[in-house]
Amino acid sequence: ANAPPVDTAPAGTLEAVRQEARHCTRCTLHCMATQTVFGQGPEQARVMVVGEQPGDQEDLAGKPFVGPAGQVFNDVLREVGMDRRSLYVTNAVKHFKYEARGKRRIHQKPNHGEIQQCRWWLKQELDYVKPKLIIAMGATAFFALTDEKQKLADVRSKPLTMEDGQILFVTVHPSYLLRIPDPELKAKELMRFREDLESVHRLA
Ligand code: URA
Repeated sequence: ANAPPVDTAPAGTLEAVRQEARHCTRCTLHCMATQTVFGQGPEQARVMVVGEQPGDQEDLAGKPFVGPAGQVFNDVLREVGMDRRSLYVTNAVKHFKYEARGKRRIHQKPNHGEIQQCRWWLKQELDYVKPKLIIAMGATAFFALTDEKQKLADVRSKPLTMEDGQILFVTVHPSYLLRIPDPELKAKELMRFREDLESVHRLA
């Protein structure tokens, strides 16, 4: 009844890469995850958004940023007047990494080896989409895109130029906003995130 999807896309297309990624065993994360969560959005997108890795809901849905962090992201995009459907949205790591605690699956940060293995897919997404501007949400995305370890505060909120001329804009990960317990700080950080996306909207 639940036959696996058949790979039919012509070679040399982003769709073929997406299909190939379904069978990825480059690191061990595929063992626990439900499925590969590949990027989503138009191949001609001018802006690519890179997050960390799928969460619980993304793992089940097979789509990036559909859970609580995605909700924050969608809300702020709407507030600044950006259309998510125009963006190519993906993650540095394409499988959900978690620790099972009873029935709950608790998110775990991907390590450098996992990020480096998964860069294989991210690079191909970049090659096909060729975005003018890339938004890195969080330190994992920044590391995946640049191979540099930096404090987020040192690279955040300003356009950086990548080797091939693309603009890289670094901001926080929306999950970080969800974890701030103090309501005042949370509101302040949410405002900064909104300002970052406003800057991106102007640059794109
Ligand atoms: N967090 C991410 O980094 N990516 C998702 O797709 C969902 C949550």
